[in-house]
Amino acid sequence: MSSFSSFALLATLSLSSLVAGVPSNTPANCEIAPPTSTFVTPKNGDCKDYTITDKVTSENLIWAQPKFKDNYDVAAWLFNETRKDSRQVFHPFADPENVTAEYTLAGTFCKPKKMNGNETTVLLATHGLGYDRRYWSSSYKPDEYNFVQYALDQGYSVFYYDRLGTGKSDKPSGFVNQASIQAEQLTALAKSIRAGKYTSDIKAEKIVLVGHSYGSYLSTAVIVNEPDLAEGIVLTGLAFPTKNDTASGFVQPFVNTIFANRIGSTLSPAFSDRDTGYIGFGDIFAHVHAFFHQPNYETQAAEYAQSISQPGTVLEFATLATLSQSAQAYKGDVLVTTGEFDILICSGECYSTYAPKAAKKEVFTGANRVETYILPGAGHGVNFAKNAMVAYKVIGTFLGKI
Ligand SMILES: *[C@@H]1O[C@H](CO)[C@@H](O)[C@H](O)[C@H]1NC(C)=O
Ligand SMILES: *[C@@H]1O[C@H](CO)[C@@H](O)[C@H](O)[C@H]1NC(C)=O
Ligand SMILES: *[C@@H]1O[C@H](CO)[C@@H](O)[C@H](O)[C@H]1NC(C)=O
Ligand SMILES: *[C@@H]1O[C@H](CO)[C@@H](O)[C@H](O)[C@H]1NC(C)=O
Repeated sequence: MSSFSSFALLATLSLSSLVAGVPSNTPANCEIAPPTSTFVTPKNGDCKDYTITDKVTSENLIWAQPKFKDNYDVAAWLFNETRKDSRQVFHPFADPENVTAEYTLAGTFCKPKKMNGNETTVLLATHGLGYDRRYWSSSYKPDEYNFVQYALDQGYSVFYYDRLGTGKSDKPSGFVNQASIQAEQLTALAKSIRAGKYTSDIKAEKIVLVGHSYGSYLSTAVIVNEPDLAEGIVLTGLAFPTKNDTASGFVQPFVNTIFANRIGSTLSPAFSDRDTGYIGFGDIFAHVHAFFHQPNYETQAAEYAQSISQPGTVLEFATLATLSQSAQAYKGDVLVTTGEFDILICSGECYSTYAPKAAKKEVFTGANRVETYILPGAGHGVNFAKNAMVAYKVIGTFLGKI
């Protein structure tokens, strides 16, 4: 906690900002979320599903308020979180505790059908709030929006999984499921992959952590504690705001409301397996506001994204800022990228946010290489921008030099 970078500052001040919300279907456009069994793997991959049970110990925040009964309680909570004196008057947690628990995660490993030597580099991909592993492997126009397919085309292997509380992974209470647990789970996963598990007959020689948004925060937290666990880290949907960036200024308290979070089980029957601590985008338009930018997206891509969206948890929103992001001991390669108009990270304008190049100096001081890239025209949800492939190619070029 001693090195309090501007990056940490953003995390602290915008608690719920990166926090990619969560969605579901409005009565108005009445799509039913597809059953979670419709997970499609890319045609150019030789893929295998895994269920992984790890026991992890993490220092957890303990929810000390009544659990939400209904969306009136959610509205009251949104108010409490965003009032300007929230930190002085709103104290929803008891003292932190170290908690040991065992959960099961569902993931997919794909190796390329056509190998070229790159396959021993395993990309370990962690999605952000609002989605499950399908964020990386779109079945809508996969030639344009499927990152896993792109990586396989370049010859890389990919392990991508449903973070705790999403997709086919376990769904503990949303008043428990939080960042520290998920960071420990990702650490355990990376160690297992390093040891040759969950990668079919491939033995990983290099690991690259790939994150989006919340997944980028978790990936960074892993190399804070275990700097040798990855040779590379690709942080998408992320930036390092300067201290007067609007993300940490007057706009910040209102970011939470962009998601228009509502209890997941009131949004779609598909989320009835989760308690009231799971909250998602109130409707597709909240989702679009947070993740897309007109005119750089197809309505159909947004509708697809909505159909695969997942609620996040109250505790995920609340604990993002507790993850340490001071990765000075990390010696590998770093790429940081997001869309030009990312409203959750840069308050809608990323060029000035990226301009000071604070990343290397303050967060990755020991890194071999730090690169940044802004995807023109895109919002926070880079993988569903019309030009997602441009970002994938930048990532490919970065990977080629690890
Ligand atoms: C909102 O905060 C007040 C205290 O300021 C508290 O009494 C109330 O229970 C909180 N409600 C929710 C839903 O967080
Ligand atoms: C949790 O465990 C760690 C490591 O043993 C320790 O440093 C920390 O103080 C513990 N936290 C609590 C709240 O007990
Ligand atoms: C911070 O804001 C001030 C006032 O708007 C501006 O002059 C300055 O250039 C900004 N600094 C950075 C690093 O963006
Ligand atoms: C491995 O992937 C990189 C990045 O896309 C690519 O430049 C390189 O040609 C690939 N290696 C081989 C042997 O094809």
